Amino acid sequence: MADDASQTPAAAPAQPPVLALTPLNPQFREDPYSMLAALREQCPVMRDEGAGVFFVSKHEDVRAILTDLTLWRDPNRAEEAAVLTRRILEEPEGARPGGSRNPSILLQDDPDHARVRNPLAQALYKRAAKIKPEVERIADAALDAVAAKGTFDLMADYALPIPIDVIAAILGVSKDRLAEFRDWSEGVIQGLNPLRTPEQTEHMLRAGDALREHMEQMLADRRANPQDDLVSDMVQIQAAGADLTDDDLVTNLNALLVAGNLTTTDLIGNAVRLFLTHPQELAKLHADPSLIAAAVEETLRYEPPVDITGRIASREMEVRGCPVHTTQSLLLSLRGANRDPEVFEEPDRFDITRRKSPHVAFGGGAHICIGAPLARIEAQVALGRLFARFPNLRLADPAAPPVWRTLPFFRGLERLDVSV
Ligand code: HEM
Repeated sequence: MADDASQTPAAAPAQPPVLALTPLNPQFREDPYSMLAALREQCPVMRDEGAGVFFVSKHEDVRAILTDLTLWRDPNRAEEAAVLTRRILEEPEGARPGGSRNPSILLQDDPDHARVRNPLAQALYKRAAKIKPEVERIADAALDAVAAKGTFDLMADYALPIPIDVIAAILGVSKDRLAEFRDWSEGVIQGLNPLRTPEQTEHMLRAGDALREHMEQMLADRRANPQDDLVSDMVQIQAAGADLTDDDLVTNLNALLVAGNLTTTDLIGNAVRLFLTHPQELAKLHADPSLIAAAVEETLRYEPPVDITGRIASREMEVRGCPVHTTQSLLLSLRGANRDPEVFEEPDRFDITRRKSPHVAFGGGAHICIGAPLARIEAQVALGRLFARFPNLRLADPAAPPVWRTLPFFRGLERLDVSV
């Protein structure tokens, strides 16, 4: 186990640096779980001096840190040595659409975090609670478009467009701007990609500016002509006296795209691949479609889209006996925690009838994913409609190895060719 930096100047040489625990490393990309299992057993609190972080991989520790409401999230509060937290975790915000003045709630602490998150969460949860028929319509339209193809890339043709079209519907993006909105949504996602090409950076910046301008126009429009959508909800909440600036609204409504689209795409893609490679589980789902919610939870546990989240020590503390000093950075391995045998029986078995699943795919505590209810509905509808429409769906080339993306801290497929 790693120790206080001042007592153990170098990390144990046998331990991988944190960047080796991302899909940039082909070994991790192919099989993250054996590397994480070894860490959980041998070094559940690993110090990476170069990156300036502790990497925490046991469920008990991850859960305790997530739910500790006294810890910080704002990377600017981390010590100078916390290079990864200050640089890479800040990247999506550094690439903030249109150079917003404030970060989104993703990286804020109280009081600003609660001030913005509470009204936004309330409005988003209400919208999510009635969005299912629209998600069904969007999923069916995507299936209509691929039906004639026979073989298609499930990522490009299904998993990618659904979350974009759903968030567009929730925000109230008009049909005639939908094509542009799709392009901007894909552009701002490049903010998550530290290895983006100059062309991708250009797309990201152009998309961010356009998205910001579009959102500013929507705010003005909904003030004058309220509609049945989330943008109208937020301007009404603001007009009723909530302490929210226009900049808060633009930044955080656009952040829903950055935080929510690729993650939900990956959940759908990972789930489809798992079912097509675990025919017994797919048979269970066909026999009892009411298992769909459990099927999505088991995918979130077994193959979560997001690798890690982070917190910063706001006091002198200990994690599993390791001293952690104020301002030191903690990376929490959600993927490692979700396969911890102390919490999950036979953790490496994909089993949709598993009874207990306190997975941490959505993080926890004050920052727990605000889009979780929406992502669950989207994935349940997307999978349910897909398998009902194409009961004989199969991998186009069962012998081909999965093509995982290299984006650090996310696990999703580059493409997934399937035949109906
Ligand atoms: C399967 C899909 C998704 C996964 C796996 C996921 C995962 C996560 C995780 C791990 C966090 C950090 C939580 C923490 O630090 O404790 C988070 C935060 C967040 N997510 Fe999601 N997310 C998903 C979908 C969405 C969607 C659909 C939206 C929006 C529509 C969204 C919006 C956000 C926002 C705004 C935050 C920041 C919340 C805060 O810091 O208070 N996410 N998500």
